[in-house]
This record gives sequence, structure tokens and C-alpha cells, in this order.
Amino acid sequence: MSAVLCCADPLAPGRVDPHFAAQAAAVREAGGTVALIDHDALLAGDAAGAVRRVPRDLGGAWYRGWMIPTARYGELCAALAARGVPMNVPVDDYRAAHELPGWHGAFAGLTPESVWTPWRPREVPDPGTVARLVAPLGGGPAVVKDYVKSRKYEWDEACYVPDLSDVAAATRVVARMVELQGDDLAGGIVVRRFERLARAEARVWWLDGAAVLTTAHPDTPAVAVAPDLTGVAAAVARLGRRFVTTDLALRDDGAWRVVEVGDAQVSDLPSGVDPAPLLGRLP
Ligand SMILES: Nc1ncnc2c1ncn2[C@@H]1O[C@H](COP(=O)(O)OP(=O)(O)O)[C@@H](O)[C@H]1O
Ligand SMILES: [Mg+2]
Repeated sequence: MSAVLCCADPLAPGRVDPHFAAQAAAVREAGGTVALIDHDALLAGDAAGAVRRVPRDLGGAWYRGWMIPTARYGELCAALAARGVPMNVPVDDYRAAHELPGWHGAFAGLTPESVWTPWRPREVPDPGTVARLVAPLGGGPAVVKDYVKSRKYEWDEACYVPDLSDVAAATRVVARMVELQGDDLAGGIVVRRFERLARAEARVWWLDGAAVLTTAHPDTPAVAVAPDLTGVAAAVARLGRRFVTTDLALRDDGAWRVVEVGDAQVSDLPSGVDPAPLLGRLP
């Protein structure tokens, strides 16, 4: 079994962050090694400092921890490689699963149609740019996010567009999303056709092409849903990345839709779920 790198507890840097303690225990119980990453140092740009506690020449490693911006993940990979610890998910694979433009093509037909454009944090979008961006979607309702995250808790002001043909209103929502993401805006702007989806999602965890665990979504941990994975496995195979998650929701016409894809190293596992089937199985 490979090693698993977990985030250290910021209050006790020699220990695993309590959020990931049960997962680290599952790795150790399965005979694996856990090493610690300083997530704060990594995000502050100090990748060498972030990997200080990782033993040299540990061999191939997975990560289980808080989300990492793709560029910082690349720095993490480089700092670890310099210590003889190659990540099992190289930065290109991380980007492909973590950012919508990387996975959307593989899931075409299973996920809401989307358009996107690279964008700089804090750059204010103008109506002309928004009109050109959303033109392929025509009119109708839409959802706005960056390449990774939405502002779903500010739904009306920064996430949902009632009708894309109202360019002024669409621009306001896109601009507010960009403003609220601030320096954390990931990659760029995404606009997706709105579909009538059930609120409760299932999170399916895929390892080397096989669905190894289905959990509730962390936002609705009490709601268990059993998605139909017909078609999804083929899309995961097309994406061709080793360790990913797919969030699925039932559409009002009965079709299971892929709301988003993630790199399973940074997807949250709802608390209370037995982590052994996932963490005890990493090759
Ligand atoms: N195209 C869409 N149509 C309808 N609802 C959507 C759509 N995209 C997202 N949502 C809703 O918004 C929520 C947040 O979107 P999501 O893409 O999962 O972003 P986040 O990364 O912030 O979770 C989803 O859980 C879903 O309820
Ligand atoms: Mg989501």
C-alpha cells in the first residue's frame, strides 16, 4: 500500500487534523503509512516547509486533506518529488478531475451543458464578455461558478441566473460570484444550463475505474441516495484518472445527472461514514 499524506492539525502539528483522524486510522489499520502535510504553509507558498515532516524516499503517495488550488498542488508534487515521494496523482490528473474544463468533455450528455472562460481574481466582468460567453447556451435559467466552487449559499445574488437572455442580470450574478470568490477564484468563470435536480446528491468514489464507495453528499449527510451508475462508469473511464468522485442528483424526469466531478484526494467524506472501504483499499 502507498503512503497517505494527511493535513496536520494546525494546533498540534505532529498530529493529523481531527477532521481526517478516522481516515488516517483506517490507513494505519490497513497497514499503510500516514505522513503529515502543513496545509497552511502550502497555501502560503511554502511547499518545502509544508512537506518538512514527510519522511524522505517514502515512495508513491496519495493525499487526503483539504482542497488545494491546482497551482499549489503542483508545488506540492515538486517538493515531494525532491524528497523521493512521487504523488500517485500528478498535477495534470489533479487539474483534470478538480476543475470543470478538465472533466466536462468526458461527462458530456451526463452533466449540464456548460461554457467557461479563464478569468483573473477580482477582474470585473463586462456585459459584452458575459453575452459572448453564454451565447452558446441561448436563453433560460443557468448556474454560475468558478472552475471548482460555486457560491451556492448566495444563490440569488451570486449563483442562479433566472434567464440568460437578460444580459444585465446575468452580468450582475457573474460579477458578484467573482467578487465573493475574491483571491480564491479558481481558474475562471463557468456558466451551466440549469436543470431541475433533487437537492440531495450521492457522492460516488471511484478508484482505478471501479466505484468503491457511495456516500451521501456532505451537505445532506442524513439522506442516502442510490444512484444508477449506468453510463457514469464509462465517463469515468474516459476521464482516465485514478481516484475521483462524482456527485449525482436525480433530475425531475428521472435521469441521474452528474452535478460535479472531483479529485477524490480532496473530496470531503461525510462524517460518520466508515472510511475503511476507501482508505483501507488504496493501492
Ligand atoms: N446546472 C445546474 N442545475 C441545477 N442546479 C445546479 C446546477 N449546478 C449546480 N446546481 C446546484 O447548486 C449546487 C452547487 O453546485 P456545485 O456545482 O456542486 O458547486 P459546489 O462546488 O459549490 O458544490 C449543487 O449541489 C446543485 O444543487
Ligand atoms: Mg457540489
